[in-house]
Amino acid sequence: MKHYDVIVIGAGPAGYVAAIRCAQWGLKTACVDSGVNDKGAASPGGTCLNVGCIPSKALLESSELFERCQHDTAAHGIHISDVSLDLPTLMQRKQQVVQDLTSGVSTLLKVNGVQLYTGTGQLLAENKVAVTLTENNEKEEISATDIILAPGSLPRAIDTIPYTDKLIVDSTGALAFSEVPERLAIIGAGIIGLELGSVWRRLGAEVVIFESAAALLPAVDQTIAKQASKIFAQQGLKFYFSSQLKSTAIKNNKVSIKYTQADKQKTEIFDKVFVAVGRSPNTKNVFSPASGLLCDEHGFIEVDEQCRTNLAHVYAIGDAVRGPMLAHKGEEEGAMVADLIAGHFARVNYETIPFVVYTDPEIAWCGKTEQQLKSENIEYKSGTFHFASNGRARAMGQTQGLIKTLADAKTDRILGIHMFGPHVSELISQAVIAMEFNASSEDLAMTMFAHPSLSEVLHESAMDVLDQAIHKGKTKSR
Ligand code: FAD
Ligand code: NAI
Repeated sequence: MKHYDVIVIGAGPAGYVAAIRCAQWGLKTACVDSGVNDKGAASPGGTCLNVGCIPSKALLESSELFERCQHDTAAHGIHISDVSLDLPTLMQRKQQVVQDLTSGVSTLLKVNGVQLYTGTGQLLAENKVAVTLTENNEKEEISATDIILAPGSLPRAIDTIPYTDKLIVDSTGALAFSEVPERLAIIGAGIIGLELGSVWRRLGAEVVIFESAAALLPAVDQTIAKQASKIFAQQGLKFYFSSQLKSTAIKNNKVSIKYTQADKQKTEIFDKVFVAVGRSPNTKNVFSPASGLLCDEHGFIEVDEQCRTNLAHVYAIGDAVRGPMLAHKGEEEGAMVADLIAGHFARVNYETIPFVVYTDPEIAWCGKTEQQLKSENIEYKSGTFHFASNGRARAMGQTQGLIKTLADAKTDRILGIHMFGPHVSELISQAVIAMEFNASSEDLAMTMFAHPSLSEVLHESAMDVLDQAIHKGKTKSR
C-alpha cells in the first residue's frame, strides 16, 4: 500500500490550497479529486473554478459589458449601433476561462509534486483511503499519516420543485443555458439568485425571483440592503417576497408554478426555473461508517476552531464544515491545516472574513453590521460617505452607493465596514487589512489615499466617524 505524509480528498479551493501548502512544507502529498470536465479529463478546482465563482464572474462580466454597450456609452459621446448578443461565443469564453484556470491548478499540483488521483476517495478506518479511479473504475487503497477532507458542497433541492433535465435546474444548469429564456423564475433571492438573476436579466430575460423571506439580504447592513433592494428592482428584477411555492407542472416545454402570496393562490408560467435555495455539505460518501467520523445533523463534518475532526490526524475544511460557504474561507482553512500538520502555529481569523455580492453595484462587507451591534448592546459610532461625492466615481459615471464605517464608541476600534458601490469587491480588502491589524477609524482617517480614487470613499467614511469628512456638505454635529 502506498503511504503518504498527507492525503487530501477534494481539490476545490480548500483542498488544492491545503495540498500545495503541504507540498511546500516538504510533505509527501496526494490529492484525490472526482472533478472531471465534459471530456472526462481531470478538472481540479472544485465548485469554485468549474461551476461557481469563476464561471459566474465570467458571465457577470460579459453581461455587464453587453448592458453598458447598450445603455451607458451614449453619455460618453460614443454611439454604438446594432449591439447584439452571440450567446454561444459568450458561453465559450466562460468555458475557456474555466479551462485555463482548472488546467492551471493541475499544473500547480504537478510542479509542487502533489500526486493527483482523479477519482473518488473514501476515508476508511486507521487513516486509510479507498480510491476508485474515474478512468477505469480500478480500486486502490492508500494511507497517510494525516488526512484532510475537503469534499465541498452541493446545491440543495426542494420537494415542491424537483429538478428536471433542462427546465428546472440548479446553479450549474443556470450557468449554461443555451438560449436566453424569455421568462426565468429563480427560487431564492440569496447570493446566487441575485448574481445569476442579474446575468440573465442583462442578457434579456424577464426575471422573477421567488423568496420565502419578507425582504432581501437579511445578513447585510440594513442601510445597504434597503438601497440595494430598491436599485435591483429599478434595474428590472421582479421580487415575489413572502411567497410559498406549492407545486410545479410541465406543459408544452414550459413550467407552471403554483404559489401563494399574501394568502392568495396564484399560477405563473416560465420558460426555465432555476433553484438557488442554499447548498448542503457533500459528505455522504466521503467516509465509511467504520472510520468513526462525526457529522452534525445537517451533514457538516464536526470540527474545532482549527479544523480538527473527532479523529486524530484527520482534518476537515471548506464548505463541508461550519462557517460561511466561501472559497477564500476554505483556502485559509486549507493553508492553516497544512501549517498545523507541518508543526507550525496557524489560525484563521473568522472575524475578518470578507463577503461580496457581485451585483452592479457590488455589495461587500467585513465585521459586524449595525443591527448586530445593536442586538449585542455594543456602543458604536458610525461614519458614511457616498460615491456620488467622490471625484473618481463621478468621472466613471458610477455614483450609486456608499461606504459605512462602524467603530467602537470608546476605543474607536473598527467593528465593521459596509460597502455598496463600484468595485467594492476590491475596496473591501482595505477594510479587511485595517481590521486584521486592529485599526481604529482614526488610523484610517490619518492614512493617505490616492486622489482621485474610489478608495477615498472609505477614507472619508472613516473621517466621518470623527465628524471630519471633508467633502460632505453637512456633518453630524453642525
Ligand atoms: P468545492 O469547491 O465544492 O470542491 C470540492 C471538491 O471535492 C470537488 O472537486 C469535488 O468533486 C471533490 N469531491 C467531493 N467528494 C469527493 C470524494 N469523495 N472523492 C474525491 N473528490 C471529491 N464563493 C466565493 O467565495 N466567491 C464567489 O464569488 C462564489 N461564487 C459562487 C457562485 C456559484 C454559482 C456557486 C455555486 C458557488 C459560489 N461560491 C463562491 C462558493 C464557492 O464555490 C465554494 O465556497 C467553494 O468552492 C468551496 O470550496 P471547497 O474546496 O470547500 O469545495
Ligand atoms: P443563500 O443561502 O445565499 O440564499 C438562499 C435564499 O433562498 C435565501 O434568501 C432563502 O430565504 C431562500 N429560500 C430558501 N428556501 C426557499 C424556498 N423554499 N422558497 C423561496 N425561497 C427560499 O444560498 P444560495 O444563493 O443558493 O448560495 C449558496 C451559497 O453559495 C451562499 O450562501 C454562498 O456561501 C455561496 N456563494 C457565494 C457567492 C459570493 O461570495 N459572491 C456567490 C454565490 C454563491
